[in-house]
Amino acid sequence: MEKIVINGGRPLHGSIEVSGSKNAAIPIILATLMVDDICVIENVPAISDITLSLEILAAMGCHIRMLSRNTVEIDSRGAMGGVSPYELVRKMRGSYYLVGAELARWGKAYVGLPGGCDFGVRPIDQHIKGFKALGAKVSVEGRYIDAKADELKGSSIYFDMETVGGTINVMIAASLAKGTTIIENAAREPHIVDLANFLNTCGAKISGAGTDTIKIKGVERLYGSTYAVIPDMIEAGTYMCAAAATGGHLKVTNVIPKHMEAVSAKLEEMGVGIVENDDSIEVVSTGELHRVNVKTLPYPGFPTDMNPQFGALLCLADGVSCLTEGIFNNRFKYVEELKRMGASIKVDGSTAIIEGGVPLSGAPVKAVDLRAGVAMIIAGLSIKGKTEIEDIHYIERGYDDVVGKLRAVGADIKKVIVPDQVQLEKAN
Ligand code: EPU
Repeated sequence: MEKIVINGGRPLHGSIEVSGSKNAAIPIILATLMVDDICVIENVPAISDITLSLEILAAMGCHIRMLSRNTVEIDSRGAMGGVSPYELVRKMRGSYYLVGAELARWGKAYVGLPGGCDFGVRPIDQHIKGFKALGAKVSVEGRYIDAKADELKGSSIYFDMETVGGTINVMIAASLAKGTTIIENAAREPHIVDLANFLNTCGAKISGAGTDTIKIKGVERLYGSTYAVIPDMIEAGTYMCAAAATGGHLKVTNVIPKHMEAVSAKLEEMGVGIVENDDSIEVVSTGELHRVNVKTLPYPGFPTDMNPQFGALLCLADGVSCLTEGIFNNRFKYVEELKRMGASIKVDGSTAIIEGGVPLSGAPVKAVDLRAGVAMIIAGLSIKGKTEIEDIHYIERGYDDVVGKLRAVGADIKKVIVPDQVQLEKAN
């Protein structure tokens, strides 16, 4: 087992580069399955969810070559569709995009139900509603989604809520359907636009991505292309919070400042200096942070994937803040871990009431999910003393070399191997 050990209390200084977006790279990589050609994807983050996605494609017969650390070539000409490797699929949320891709290319998909972070109930009824609207027969049998269609036909779909996964999955399937599909009440996240741009470079005809109405004119087939994934807005926001929490001065590079507006605005409201450049943001903090209220919402609102990082940051503010979760019904599991560090937080339904200024102290804590894990890092970096974080495999699902990047800007942070308890006992 590995854990992260932090000796905090040092302001972060220097320049930190953001990797490619996890939530754009996963659907782009899985969508190459239906391209039936060779694609080269650049700016791919080196994270375990991507390794898993590539392993799934390889198990389905794609030929994968890493051209560099962050560039992958995927040849899906020899892929065999219809059934996906359950043991790999169940480990990640984004694997549900295989349903859209396999339905589009082979007219059938048999995919294990997705895993991923546990924020309470995470239904996929809207994905299923979309596939059915395109003419597929879909059933959930035990741990599998079984979808079949003689032919996918363009249709109109109105989503009951803004769903990132649902919008992406239907967009993938509809790209090769016969006729035109209109998705209304579509999610507008930058990764949706990125996937549409990728598919369009392969010959798809998608317009309106980034608005609440997306139009997809189905095409006969897609062709290989070379495409670079957008920067990860949540990784960028995480490092911005780390700079704010430590009273540091960080230049966060390889970002699209427009994607960061909700996060930048909240940090400014807290008294943090933000300077936007073309593709970087400078964050200047004195360490004095004002209390604010935050509510997570679909893009362009404040992202739910920044909830835990702000949860940690607001513990350092000068008063009581309310942090309200507007997307998932159980995103506050990390609160118990912050409490181990001395935080004073009360969760009332979907709102965490956070009393800032209560001194935190280093403690052994767990990464209970991906973003919760980096919230522990942010808290740990701000505290004079030692913080140990277990279950860091969650963090590695979505952060490319977080330890190396933070060390390079002055953090005292390292990854250590802890001998497995069972093995130790056996050895004794
Ligand atoms: N929902 C339904 N039915 C559906 C789909 C969604 O009720 O069929 C509900 C969800 O339960 C939730 C809301 O709609 O309450 C929004 O869910 P959405 O579908 O947008 O989320 P997702 O596709 O499951 C993706 C990201 C998450 C991110 C959310 C919201 C991936 C692989 N996952 O999840 O990313 O939190 O969108 O932006 O892209 C992360 O990166 O840490 C992460 C969890």
